[in-house]
Amino acid sequence: MSVLSGKKILLGITAGIAAYKSANLVRLFIKLGAEVKVIMTPASKDFITPLTLSTLSKNPVHSTFYEKEEENELWNNHVELGLWADYLVIAPTTANTLSKMANGVCDNLLIATYLSAKCPVYFAPAMDLDMYKHQSTKDNLTKLQEMGNVMIPATSGELASGLVGEGRMAEPEDIINFIENDILNKLPLKGKKILITAGPTYEAIDPVRFIGNHSSGKMGFSIAKSAANLGAEVYLISGPSHEQVNHSLIHRVDVVSADEMYEACHNYFNTVDVAILSAAVADYKPKNVADQKIKKATNSLTIALAPTKDILASLGKIKKHQILVGFALETQNEINNAKAKIEKKNLDFIVLNSLRDKGAGFATDTNKITIIDKNFESKSFNLKTKAEVANDILSEILSLIHA
Ligand code: CTP
Repeated sequence: MSVLSGKKILLGITAGIAAYKSANLVRLFIKLGAEVKVIMTPASKDFITPLTLSTLSKNPVHSTFYEKEEENELWNNHVELGLWADYLVIAPTTANTLSKMANGVCDNLLIATYLSAKCPVYFAPAMDLDMYKHQSTKDNLTKLQEMGNVMIPATSGELASGLVGEGRMAEPEDIINFIENDILNKLPLKGKKILITAGPTYEAIDPVRFIGNHSSGKMGFSIAKSAANLGAEVYLISGPSHEQVNHSLIHRVDVVSADEMYEACHNYFNTVDVAILSAAVADYKPKNVADQKIKKATNSLTIALAPTKDILASLGKIKKHQILVGFALETQNEINNAKAKIEKKNLDFIVLNSLRDKGAGFATDTNKITIIDKNFESKSFNLKTKAEVANDILSEILSLIHA
């Protein structure tokens, strides 16, 4: 999944011959799952039609401060457009637009939106080689980058004038790659590795039966997605779960039993920076697993159980630099039980959820948590979706990493 999936892209188009490539750029953004709105400078309409761009972007194209629709005049609010966008991409950016952006000359909707936007701004210059080399252009490019705008450099090649040199707008595929890499490199968990456990474990009784629990894996999968969206490389060790995941930064390792989960966690733990153990691991497993299906014979059946290895506690014993996070699902005396687990398992913090809270716990889409750190400082959160809860947990991780 691309980092641009689900993102809102405002594409600004200015009057250069490379504007014909903008159609392809819109198509590629849409293909990656982004939502696109286009703003054109009035002169750029000589190079590509608004109809092409509105059809491809599935949104109206704006180019003036107001539009006449039958008898009504509609105001195009540049502030709203600027606030709507997650990213503003201006491609192509002509020498004229560069100069206006650098100096705040606000004579069209695109520049007004640029001046209003609070999101990251990418710009892809496109012009003839002598214009590109001109000192005033160089000064404007430097100034725009010093202001925090990100330049997608022009490339060398044959130009519309027939001359060969620097000034060609980067190809649409290269613009997309550039933006994706730039976003990934700036993500706050970029370069960090995180181990996450999720779901239940199944402890075999015989070849057809097991002891399990109602955990769906939703919480752990949400944490994995949220961590990957923040740029972390994730090792998601999951017990049996119907949850799906499709993210290039998430490596899913499927296990069944507590023993298998223990092995998998110990395989990865030394290499990770953070481990979040949200799985509902069985505390006991049958002492002996029958080779054949157990036949119904007597009125009662006793299965002898042996404790499983406590994965979280075992990682707490060997942890060095790692931030270690556990979960506690309690039904009574919640805070004290959770605090005892922090000490017993050597945790940096614990995520407590109580089955007494409506909407918390197994198989729901929501959760209500309290985070308690190793100094026993606690933060209680409202009932939220598991995706939002995952973000809260990762914010806590980020504050520990940057402490
Ligand atoms: N856990 C684990 N391995 C186990 C049991 C639990 O890694 N064999 C982890 C869970 O993933 C969770 C934390 O330990 O992060 C808390 O589990 P919980 O079952 O609540 O704690 P227990 O120590 O088993 O205590 P109790 O069941 O008595 O509440």
